[in-house]
Amino acid sequence: MNGKHIVLGITGGIAAYKAASLVRLFVKAGAEVQVIMTPNAKEFITPVTLSTLSGKPVISEFFTANTGQWNSHVDLGLWADAMVIAPATASTIAKMANGVADNMLVTSYLSSRAPVFVAPAMDFDMMRHPTTCRNIELLRSYGNHIIEPATGELASHLVGKGRMEEPEKIFETVRDFFQSPLTMKGKRVLVTAGPTRERIDPVRFISNYSTGKMGVAIADAAARRGAEVTLVLGPSEVRPQHSGVDVINVESAREMLEACQTHFPGCDIAVMTAAVADYTVANPAEHKIKREGNRPPVIEFVQNPDIAATLGACKKPGQILVGFALETDNEENNALDKIRRKNLDFVVMNSLRDHGAGFATDTNKVTIFNRDGSSQAFQLKSKMQVAEDILDAVTKVE
Ligand code: C5P
Repeated sequence: MNGKHIVLGITGGIAAYKAASLVRLFVKAGAEVQVIMTPNAKEFITPVTLSTLSGKPVISEFFTANTGQWNSHVDLGLWADAMVIAPATASTIAKMANGVADNMLVTSYLSSRAPVFVAPAMDFDMMRHPTTCRNIELLRSYGNHIIEPATGELASHLVGKGRMEEPEKIFETVRDFFQSPLTMKGKRVLVTAGPTRERIDPVRFISNYSTGKMGVAIADAAARRGAEVTLVLGPSEVRPQHSGVDVINVESAREMLEACQTHFPGCDIAVMTAAVADYTVANPAEHKIKREGNRPPVIEFVQNPDIAATLGACKKPGQILVGFALETDNEENNALDKIRRKNLDFVVMNSLRDHGAGFATDTNKVTIFNRDGSSQAFQLKSKMQVAEDILDAVTKVE
């Protein structure tokens, strides 16, 4: 945990007193901890205790009252390598699940790109209420890590599920996340991600709805496992979090192909998640196309190179090539046909028919089809978890 930046969110539950031990565990392991408390949390534990243990003033409000200093939720969100919310009350969980940004903690949560760990703590009946269950499931589906509460005697003296997991367990969960075994150390991984843009003229292009989230999650996951990762990324707002990912920004399918041809020969594994435009404009205009009378312009398209197939054609023994397929129908046949045509080792298929799968969501529901016709269907999961499943499948390729 050395040098890791942890934002520890503490909310107003009796388990807040345990957050003091959690701060100590992180600090002892070498992490820097910034505590954010909700106003109610201060009723349960004093900010002085937590600022003393963390060595940093606790943040609770958007402004520091006596100096007028603005506490930037955006800066905090970007500073964090991980956010840990412990204890997380039913109220904070509901706000997080629904984007109610009425305090510094939830606002920072919404601004953060870091992995988030949520340790719920509440009374037994609140914990099992369908609203709470749904909110926790929503948080999980957005890629947050839920550290399940333990069962035992609660502050209300009721016995049941709802007691915040012990600080040692919470600490270990976060530590293990950062120390995932380096099973891909020494491997070189190439990932393509995002859409491509094909220029019509200097101000216009055709593209698609891909955000690049799935490919970026795979690049991050491979880097966490110790691989050297090159990410060839089409125009995308999403950025990898791991410093071990080398990003090559490209725009068109041609540029993406060139970057891949440079890096594929030296790589062990290539995962093609990019949504490459199938066609590009035959003759992009040098100047902006003007509206002329009532005659709409006619744009001629030509086929783009198939990057996956090009790499598949020169794949050497030992290299693993993984493709994606996004289908609306006849999924299995299309997936198997793609494996053959592009010389892939397996295809990760997502269907636009599945709710929560495909473009722009933080979740995905995939089925992996292998060369031998076997397949494995996965549940709806966060893209971060789907990335881990795909890398697990890569390690099983003979
Ligand atoms: O043929 P289809 O576009 O459905 O295949 C999808 C797979 O092929 C994805 O892995 C995608 O990244 C890759 N692909 C490519 N170059 C293209 C088209 C698709 O690499 N021109």
